[in-house]
Amino acid sequence: MMLRTPRLLIRSLLASDQQALHDLNSHDEVQHFLRSAIPSEEEDAASLHRQLAANRLHHDLGHVVAVPAEDPSAPLVGWFHLRPGPDGDIFNPELGWRLHPSVWGQGLATEACRALLEHAFTTVQASSVTAETLAANLASRRVMARLGMAETGMRDWTSPDPVPGREQGVVQARIGLRTWLDTHEDVRSALHELQAWALKERDKSALETLRTLGMDLARIETDGVRASQDLVAELARARGIRW
Ligand SMILES: CC(C)(COP(=O)(O)OP(=O)(O)OC[C@H]1O[C@@H](n2cnc3c(N)ncnc32)[C@H](O)[C@@H]1OP(=O)(O)O)[C@@H](O)C(=O)NCCC(=O)NCCS
Repeated sequence: MMLRTPRLLIRSLLASDQQALHDLNSHDEVQHFLRSAIPSEEEDAASLHRQLAANRLHHDLGHVVAVPAEDPSAPLVGWFHLRPGPDGDIFNPELGWRLHPSVWGQGLATEACRALLEHAFTTVQASSVTAETLAANLASRRVMARLGMAETGMRDWTSPDPVPGREQGVVQARIGLRTWLDTHEDVRSALHELQAWALKERDKSALETLRTLGMDLARIETDGVRASQDLVAELARARGIRW
């Protein structure tokens, strides 16, 4: 996987990221709501090994790192996953994040996650994306909110690890395709344009596909919004619509 944002390059994990990932995991602030002890080098090497193996199973999902867009050889900005949900469900993947403390508070987690959501809803064709965090992890909950994810429930912290705030439980959050379309102006515009084309061409299968996305046919015809041609083409291609 390779994605670009204004400030970041997001790429699949490499075996050569081992030391950089261990450095990221060695900050007390990073581990505060994750586990009560810093992982050893051996534990991190074993995690990396598992993640690389998982990445080989799914080309468009998995564990990724973000590096500065202007200098991809600079130290890692963060680590993320967009991995299959429970029971290996690739169409309802789970998003997770972990950033180097030196870059917190600059909107980088949100920026990277927005790109991962776009990837999930276009390339992977996910119907929803979920995330979880300890209720006490307010920064993570803020990232969820900024992404348009709604908190859908709570569960107990089941690990024996006595992480601070575990007694408040774990918040579960989700964003569905329709909500994502509504909160993402570029994509909404792109779909409107795609729909206008499908109406003009009277392409039944394209219209049916767009209808399944909940598009409002009557409104679309009068909107006249301009779209990003790249995004339209990508969406159309991803859904097998002639463009
Ligand atoms: C969670 C984390 C990824 C956020 O990264 P970030 O790049 O600082 O995130 P962003 O800048 O995109 O957004 C952070 C938001 O949280 C808010 N925030 C940060 N710390 C906060 C706190 N202690 N309490 C409440 N809100 C907080 C910020 O103000 C910002 O919201 P705003 O811009 O609307 O004001 C980062 O703190 C981190 O890596 N934490 C450790 C690992 C972790 O806990 N991962 C999640 C496990 S589920």
